[in-house]
Amino acid sequence: MAEQARRRPRPDWVIDELSTAGRENLDPVHAGRYDSKEDAEAAKEVDLLISLGLDDGADVVDLGAGTGQLAVAAAATCNRLVAVDVSDVMLDQLRAKVAMRGITNIEIVNAGFVTYEHGGRPADFIYSRWALHQIPDFWKSLALTRMRRALRVGGVLRLSDIVYCFEPDEAEERLDAWCATLPEAGSPGEWVRGDIVEHIHDEHSTYSWLLEPMMERCGFRIEVAEHSEDGFFAAYVARAV
Ligand SMILES: C[S@@+](CC[C@H](N)C(=O)[O-])C[C@H]1O[C@@H](n2cnc3c(N)ncnc32)[C@H](O)[C@@H]1O
Repeated sequence: MAEQARRRPRPDWVIDELSTAGRENLDPVHAGRYDSKEDAEAAKEVDLLISLGLDDGADVVDLGAGTGQLAVAAAATCNRLVAVDVSDVMLDQLRAKVAMRGITNIEIVNAGFVTYEHGGRPADFIYSRWALHQIPDFWKSLALTRMRRALRVGGVLRLSDIVYCFEPDEAEERLDAWCATLPEAGSPGEWVRGDIVEHIHDEHSTYSWLLEPMMERCGFRIEVAEHSEDGFFAAYVARAV
């Protein structure tokens, strides 16, 4: 494993991505429980990437990699996997997996969407699941622009996130219904209503009808756009043009 702290000197106008990283993502207890709490369906996602051309010659960057569920699952099928996250405690979980399994082609980078500097040849795939909502919309546009620059022409962006896929006049009713999907209390390893409330208060999920033109404006052609029935999740396959 080649571990690098790949941060360029940060201009003073750049957002502090640790301040928007999410309270729980910086909490070692949450990081330690994350994999039992959240199944990122990594095997299914790797199959999708393979159907889009992932093979052992491909370079992949996972932005907001967290504990590295996708990174570990994809590493055997690619050349280079760069796992990027602002949270060192989330990355510690990945470091332990990489060491335990003797994986040699995962590079772990403690950086964020707007501070990660991609080195080497342009990536073939950029993957990001449930992380882009951590930064406000202007910063999403900068992050997407930087993703575009890090990808080769024709490279794939697989982006999944908590995205509001409904109209503004539906928002209050939808948010009430979303909050009601989880119990008020649960065991420490379970998502509860308060997690959704915290997400709505403190994080930056945006509307699909803002995010999708933003992706196109930043140099992507959206090939697949899936919106969940409840209106809170979106998953995209987009190509760098
Ligand atoms: C809900 S977890 C998702 C982790 C992983 N992608 C998955 O699907 O299991 C969100 C991750 O985004 C990271 N994150 C938050 N803000 C970030 C930023 N600005 N740049 C990169 N990663 C960020 C958090 O530290 C956390 O690991």
